[in-house]
Formats: sequence, structure tokens, C-alpha cells
Amino acid sequence: MPDLSLLPPSAVIDGDDLRIGGCLMSDLAERFGTPAFVIDEQALRDRAREYLGALTSRHQAGRVCFAVKSFPSAATIRVLAQEGLGCDVVGAGELRMALAAGADPARIVMHGNAKSDADIEAALAAGIGYIVVDGFDDIDRIERLATRPAPVLLRVSPGIESDTHAAMATGGKLSKFGVPAEQVPDAIARMRASAHVDLRGLHAHIGSQITRVEQFEAAVEALATLERFEVYDFGGGLGVRYEPQDSAPDVDEYVGRLVAAAHKHLGTGIEILIEPGRSMVARAGVTLYRVVTVKQAGKLHVAVDGGMGDNLEYSLYGQRFTPLTVGRWDAQPVLADLVGRHCESGDIVTPDVLLADPAIGDLVVVPVTGAYCFTMANNYNGALRPPVIFCSDGQARVGVRRETFEDLMAREVDLG
Ligand SMILES: Cc1ncc(COP(=O)(O)O)c(C=O)c1O
Repeated sequence: MPDLSLLPPSAVIDGDDLRIGGCLMSDLAERFGTPAFVIDEQALRDRAREYLGALTSRHQAGRVCFAVKSFPSAATIRVLAQEGLGCDVVGAGELRMALAAGADPARIVMHGNAKSDADIEAALAAGIGYIVVDGFDDIDRIERLATRPAPVLLRVSPGIESDTHAAMATGGKLSKFGVPAEQVPDAIARMRASAHVDLRGLHAHIGSQITRVEQFEAAVEALATLERFEVYDFGGGLGVRYEPQDSAPDVDEYVGRLVAAAHKHLGTGIEILIEPGRSMVARAGVTLYRVVTVKQAGKLHVAVDGGMGDNLEYSLYGQRFTPLTVGRWDAQPVLADLVGRHCESGDIVTPDVLLADPAIGDLVVVPVTGAYCFTMANNYNGALRPPVIFCSDGQARVGVRRETFEDLMAREVDLG
């Protein structure tokens, strides 16, 4: 029997099928087609409550802002906003989604290492909670565009080389994000001298898929070496398990140690924000594919009807997954590359993985694809981006519909 610990908590085997949120994978495939992102809605809600409880039980003035980049869909934001979360958005596009989803502007924080005038104008017009100043150019832009003092936080680059893939490390000495500690006094002075910038606090985010909590604690300590403020935003970054042998701190341990570090180094009279993305949504989501071809060519290639068009994690970060062939619970596993349908050899969901006797037409579920897969879905080879199906209590509802060929052609204005 397969290890279900990577699947959403509601997952159960039902004969030769699998249920998530009470819905059978075979039914979902029939009704909505494949590939599809399937979300356990209750898991999403429970995770939001777990985060909020872990923070506010230890620190009353605590806010959890969902990092929208990890699953930028209004339907997802709406579920999490209903549970009391705010949002961290990057740029005017994510802000628009959050507002459309009904998020409270006062609970929105805007990031971006290269915010345009349009981004800042959108943030000012919406009256969001904080713009996170990422550098001196942001200060110039806010000064030029704001008509009254805009509440801001200053993102500090704490000089921490986090233990994650280089593309996901954001707090190191050479990072493009934030202001290096030695320039912070200048940045503070600039903002204090401006009638249009209302500096309330500091921010640090050291990267994503980080499983060593001491690195988050080190970031808190780094902020404590600077001038003290009333607001601290410690970003997101908590890692998750992708394979059975992985381990990751749970939310309670992570938040507990973060808050303890904040109380120790910064005191208790502060407002604390955190911005979880991956650890909020990753396990709540799976991708449902159908096997299209099985080819023995030097090695076994099992190709599904998606791939790089809906999951760039392996090609960008070397991230491995643990796919399951639905219904083949007791079959002898074979070693194969689970590959996609796109035209390059790098189009791999996971190489050298044990798959239970996959055959054409089988359904394959890839767990822990709730974070950053929908985000980076694309039209490579004219692929239609998959739908997002929320499952709860045996009911399935479409959060985002599948793209159509009409959508694909919609921006083409020169068709002769
Ligand atoms: C500023 C900021 N906050 C929060 C996050 C969310 O990180 P994660 O999805 O690893 O929790 C990111 C993403 O890297 C980020 O850049």
C-alpha cells in the first residue's frame, strides 16, 4: 500500500481508486479532464487556522499573510481570506487578484525588487497595509507618487546564506532583494526625511524550502542589530516534505521558535507578520494526470498528459516528487522517468522514480504540487493550463477553469 503521508490529509484509498476531499480521482478525471490541480479545501482551511493559532496564541499582535505567489488564484485567496489571513502580493497583478478575491486591503503587503510606478500607484490607490521598500528607488517612487504618508516596511538583506536551492535563497550577501544591513541607516534616514513615507518597521525573507529553523532565528537576530521598530515581518520560507524520507519542521515548531526569537531579541511589544506560501498550500494540492505513453528506450519513460506546462519544479530546482499510479496499489513497482508531453528532454516530472506498473490510461497523482506549480503553469507547446478543482465533503467545484484553445488564441491580433 502506498505511503499517504505526502497526500492531503483527507486522502484515503477506496478500492482501486483514491479519494481526496471525499472525491474519487476517477470521477474528477472524467468530469474535469486531466491534467488538473486538485485541492483539498478543508486542508487549506485547516492549515490557515493552524498558522493563525500558532502565531496569535503566542503573540496577540500577529498577522499571517498568505504569499500569493505560491498559488496566485482568487479562489484560493478567497478561501484563505475567509479564514482570517491577509496577503503578501508582488506587484499590481497579484494585488488585483487579492482585491478581486475580497481580501481586506489593510491586510495586504506588497513586495517586489523592481516595483514599477504602476505597481506603487496600484498599492497607494488600494490603500494597502504596507508597501515593502526593497531599495532606494522604491523610496524615490513613493515620494513622487504618494499624496499622503504611505505606511512602509523596509526589507533588509540579512546576509544569511540559507540552506536551500540557490534560486530560492533570497537573504544572502549578493541577493538582489532588500537593502544590505550597512545601507539600512541611510535608507531609514531617507525615509524619515520624506513627508510621503511612513516607515513602520523592518522585513526579512531569507528564501524558500528552508527546513533549518535556526536560519529563521538568525534572521530575527540580524534584524535586532538594527534600529528598533514597532512592526517586524519575518517573511515566509518554511520547507515541506516532498518525498517520504524528507523531514520538515511543523508549523507549531517553526512559529514557536520564530516568536521566541522575536521576544528574546526584539521584545514583546511589537507587531509580527509572517508570509507563508509553500507550507500553506503545498500539501493541500495534487496534480492528476493520465498516462499517455509508456516507452522502453534505454530506460522506461512513462509520459503523462502534462509536465513542464504545469510543473517546472524539477527543471528549475531539481525538486523530486513521489507519484502514485492510482489503483495499482499492490503492483510490482518499476523504475521509470515520469516525463511530460513537452518537446524537450528536460521535461521531467521526476526521474528515476518507482512507479507501480503504469499503463496507458492509468491515472497518476503527484502529491505536494499545491505550491508554485499552478503559479508557473504555461502554454509550452500550446498546452492549455489545467483547472483548479476544490474538493470538500465529496463535492467538487471549479476554482479556475481549464484554459481553452480560444483563450490560447485570444491575444493574437494579427491573424491575417
Ligand atoms: C517576500 C516573500 N515572502 C514570502 C514568500 C513565501 O515563501 P514560501 O513560499 O517559501 O513560504 C516569498 C517567496 O519566496 C517571498 O519572496
